[in-house]
Amino acid sequence: MELAQWYTLLLRAEFILAILTFVSLFFISAPYGRFERKGWGITLPAKYAWMIMESPAMLIPLYFFFAFADKQQLVLILFLLIWQFHYAHRTLIYPFQKSGGNRPFPLALVGMAIAFNCMNGVVISYSVFVKNTYATDWLFQWPFVLGLSIFLLGYWINKRSDSILKNLRAPTETTYKIPYGGLFKWVSNPHYLGEILGWCGWAILTWSVAGWAFVAYTFANLAPRALAHHQWYKANFEDYPSNRKALIPFIW
Ligand SMILES: NC(=O)c1ccc[n+]([C@@H]2O[C@H](COP(=O)([O-])OP(=O)(O)OC[C@H]3O[C@@H](n4cnc5c(N)ncnc54)[C@H](OP(=O)(O)O)[C@@H]3O)[C@@H](O)[C@H]2O)c1
Repeated sequence: MELAQWYTLLLRAEFILAILTFVSLFFISAPYGRFERKGWGITLPAKYAWMIMESPAMLIPLYFFFAFADKQQLVLILFLLIWQFHYAHRTLIYPFQKSGGNRPFPLALVGMAIAFNCMNGVVISYSVFVKNTYATDWLFQWPFVLGLSIFLLGYWINKRSDSILKNLRAPTETTYKIPYGGLFKWVSNPHYLGEILGWCGWAILTWSVAGWAFVAYTFANLAPRALAHHQWYKANFEDYPSNRKALIPFIW
């Protein structure tokens, strides 16, 4: 099968997977972090799990850029840098900064995340480095400027919220506390909100269906978990702020 056919197939599969994921995660919470439980087979320390499962999302776009892209094209160089700004950090730095890095993480989940990141990596990379063409003046057009602004806003919200969560614990601690500060004032999961917003920014700045497929999957993956976190906080902390929503300030 040719690369273009793979792209079409995987793009469709990603939208279908988003729907299946969204529905199933309301019934089964992914068994890591506070929802870690027995019965999911072999585990490995969370920090290595994160590094391994996020690696394809960092490496596949690198491969596509060097194998297929016009490397003189400033727009494509910037796309690569923007993508890696998120994924190099998520793969190489975040796993070793987060708290609970030695907690068990099921190998089965690592396998599923690798499969998704391979699929999404091919779809995103083919879309921006092979299929679509972008002239240099794309950098001055509104989708790029608006999309990059939203991407950076989402990135900042995501990183700031991850950092607030990390600072809740001493290095070897594993207990859960109520997070305060930043967008935690309004929602229980600002890190997820930032993640979703950031990928909306990517979809706009690349003006690509592939980008929206990734947004659909990210939302499908994180919205049910955001609700589960929110309900967990309310069930475990009597003094949990009653005005906080799960994911979207003032709405949900
Ligand atoms: N694109 C996607 O589809 C996708 C999917 C998943 C995650 N992500 C991103 O990956 C990052 C991590 O996600 P996650 O699902 O692991 O988030 P999470 O379950 O909220 O956990 C994040 C980190 O904070 C700790 N933590 C969470 N709540 C805490 C509390 N109340 N008190 C003390 N420590 C707390 C966790 O420790 P424990 O490990 O001990 O719980 C973990 O180290 C986020 O930035 C998220 O947006 C993206």
